[in-house]
Amino acid sequence: MTNVSTPPQRALVTGAASGIGKAIATEVIAQGGRVLAFDLDAEAMALGAKEFGDAYVPFAGSVTDPEVVEEAVAHAEVQLEGPLDSLFNVAGALRPAPIVDLTVEDWDFTIDVVLRGVFLCTKYAATSMIAGGKGGAIVNIASVNAHMPLYAGSAYAAGKAGVEMFSKNAALELARHDIRVNTVLPGLVDTPMAGFIIQNDGIMGEFNENAVIKRPANPSELAKPSVFLASSAASYVTGTSLVVDGGYEIGGYPDLSRYL
Ligand SMILES: NC(=O)c1ccc[n+]([C@@H]2O[C@H](COP(=O)([O-])OP(=O)(O)OC[C@H]3O[C@@H](n4cnc5c(N)ncnc54)[C@H](O)[C@@H]3O)[C@@H](O)[C@H]2O)c1
Repeated sequence: MTNVSTPPQRALVTGAASGIGKAIATEVIAQGGRVLAFDLDAEAMALGAKEFGDAYVPFAGSVTDPEVVEEAVAHAEVQLEGPLDSLFNVAGALRPAPIVDLTVEDWDFTIDVVLRGVFLCTKYAATSMIAGGKGGAIVNIASVNAHMPLYAGSAYAAGKAGVEMFSKNAALELARHDIRVNTVLPGLVDTPMAGFIIQNDGIMGEFNENAVIKRPANPSELAKPSVFLASSAASYVTGTSLVVDGGYEIGGYPDLSRYL
């Protein structure tokens, strides 16, 4: 028995062109692994391939399309020279609107990326891991909005809550194949998706009233805990959730000592 942790070696990372997904790809590569970067944004992934060489293999397509996902996993097995040992489901999208104004199309769009994409990538990546016979780890990036409703973000919050329960179900079903499944719930992270929040002084003023750590996370602050969960250092961790929100979830109630 060694006390050296084994990091992911052959990882599929969705949303790997930007933000948290790019940071996870960067961390996997820094720890000696290789990544199949799966994202819609071919141009941004070309930059990643330039930066990381053959440790970052781009695959352009949507996580919502079963045929494309199956192809991405097959491509990963060939390009990374073996079955996957890890999957990071990171791709996501947010189209904010109050429920009464939310179009059916935008509801379906959000649920498709956030929840259907996680199901499809888990289905095909787990099949690869099972065939490889050496187990694996899956890390699903949800959001604190899986626990806290988001005004004008009903589809997003409902989809993310679905991701957390789907992860538990996958952990239960895949344990017999030595595959662990966990969820990471970020708070506010400085990425393009959150740009319209971070650049708005009004929203940030309200955010900082409740925030315990009064700044957004850097994407690498999400990448390190996520890669930890996929490594052998977390070999007894499955079916659980790690909230990485700078304490946002605990900060909501007014400070009573100010009124005593
Ligand atoms: N940024 C935050 O504050 C925050 C907070 C909580 C949760 N999250 C979650 O973290 C994850 C990553 O978001 P981010 O903040 O890094 O955003 P980002 O916009 O920087 O990156 C998201 C990536 O997902 C890709 N993507 C979108 N739809 C796709 C699809 N159908 N198929 C393949 N790729 C697709 C985009 O092209 C993009 O590269 C998302 O699931 C998001 O919901 C983000």
